[in-house]
Amino acid sequence: MAVSEKDVMTALGRVIEPELHQDLVTLNMVKDVRIIGNDVAFKIELTTPACPLKDVMDKAARAELNKIVGIGTVDIGWTSNVAANARMRSALSLPVKNIIAVASGKGGVGKSTIAVNLAIALGQTGATVGLLDNDVYGPNVPIMVGLPTAELMPDGRSRPSISIETRGKVNLMVPEEKFGIKIFSIGFVYSAEQALVWRGPMLHSAIRQFLQEVAWGDLDYLIIDMPPGTGDSQLSLAQTAQGVMGVIVTTPQLVSLSDALKGITAFEQLKIPMIGVIENMGPYIDPATGRKMTMFGEGGGERLAAMKKVPFLGSVPLDPSIRIGGDTGKPFIVTNPDSEAAQRLTTIAKQVAARVSVLNFQQSSVIPISIIG
Ligand SMILES: Nc1ncnc2c1ncn2[C@@H]1O[C@H](COP(=O)(O)OP(=O)(O)OP(=O)(O)O)[C@@H](O)[C@H]1O
Ligand SMILES: [Mg+2]
Repeated sequence: MAVSEKDVMTALGRVIEPELHQDLVTLNMVKDVRIIGNDVAFKIELTTPACPLKDVMDKAARAELNKIVGIGTVDIGWTSNVAANARMRSALSLPVKNIIAVASGKGGVGKSTIAVNLAIALGQTGATVGLLDNDVYGPNVPIMVGLPTAELMPDGRSRPSISIETRGKVNLMVPEEKFGIKIFSIGFVYSAEQALVWRGPMLHSAIRQFLQEVAWGDLDYLIIDMPPGTGDSQLSLAQTAQGVMGVIVTTPQLVSLSDALKGITAFEQLKIPMIGVIENMGPYIDPATGRKMTMFGEGGGERLAAMKKVPFLGSVPLDPSIRIGGDTGKPFIVTNPDSEAAQRLTTIAKQVAARVSVLNFQQSSVIPISIIG
C-alpha cells in the first residue's frame, strides 16, 4: 500500500514540540509535504532558527514515520519563521518581532559584554538581529565592537559617525552593520562630552528615538543593552515598547545577587516578562593548568533563578580573553568561537530564543483573537 499524506500527518501529529508541548501538526509547523512513491520529504518550520531542540524533534519525527508500513526514505528540511510578540503593537509600529532588554541591578557585571555577544550569537544562527546600546551616560558598545564614535567639533556640536538618511519627511539614523548584526549606540551621534548633559526627560524620549528614528528594518530580535541600575530607563522602556522581555545578568557572589534581585523585581513591577537569568564571571577552568578558578564564587545565578522561579539560562566564565575582546573591539564569540565561554554563550543564546518563543506562544494563547492583527 502506498504511503499517503494522511499517514504522514497522522504520524507527525504524534510528535510533540518539546517546549510548546503541542504536536507539530497542531502547531502548523509541517510544511511542503511531498511523497514520491514511498519516499517522504517535508519541512519543519521552527519558531526560531536558534532552536536548541531540533535534534530531539528530528529523532522523534523519524521514529514516528518509521512506524508507517512500507515507508521509504525520510527527508526533513528545516526552516524558521521567528514568532512575533503579539503585544509588540504599541504606537511604535516597528518591524521588530521581539525586544530583549539585558539588565541587572548592578553596574559592571557584564551586561554590555553579554548583550554584544548574545546579539552576535543569535545572528550566527541565521536570525536577523539588532543591538541597541541604551546606556546614554556610558555607551560602551562602540568600543566593544570596534566602531568609531561621534566627534566633538570646535563649535561644541557633535559630528555623528553614522549616516543620516531622509525618508519622506523623517530623518532616520542608519545603524552600523558588523559581525552580522545591526548596531546603534548614542555614542555614534553625540560625543561623550555632549551625552553627559542629557537630563531625565530627554532620557525618556531617547529610547523612543532609538526605536523609531533608527532605520532598523525588519528584525527578529532587538537586544537592548541597558544602563546599570533599576531606575528610569527600565520604566521608559516599558512605557515605550510594549511586549519587551527581560534578561538579568548577575555575577555569582551574594552582593551582586541582592542587586540582581532588585532588577528582577523591577521587571516584575513593570510587567516585563522574564526570559531568565544569565550568570557572568562564573567559574573558569584555566586551559593551561586545568585549574578551576572561582573568583566570585559559583552557583549564585542558579540560586537566584530558583529563588525567583525564573529559568536559569547558563553561566559564562570569568575569562581574561573576554575582557581583552571587549577592550579591543573583537567580541570573544567571533574571535574565540571554540572557547568554553563562546560555546556556553551560544547555548545561552539558543535558550533565550527558545524561551522567547515559549513566552510568545503562551501570550498568544491567552490574548483574545479579536485584538491580534
Ligand atoms: N566573563 C567575563 N570575563 C572577563 N571579563 C569580563 C567578563 N564579562 C565582562 N568582563 C569585563 O568586565 C568589564 C565590565 O563589563 P561590562 O562593561 O560588560 O559590564 P556592564 O554591566 O555593562 O557595566 P555598566 O554597568 O558600567 O554598564 C569589562 O571590562 C568587560 O570586558
Ligand atoms: Mg554596560
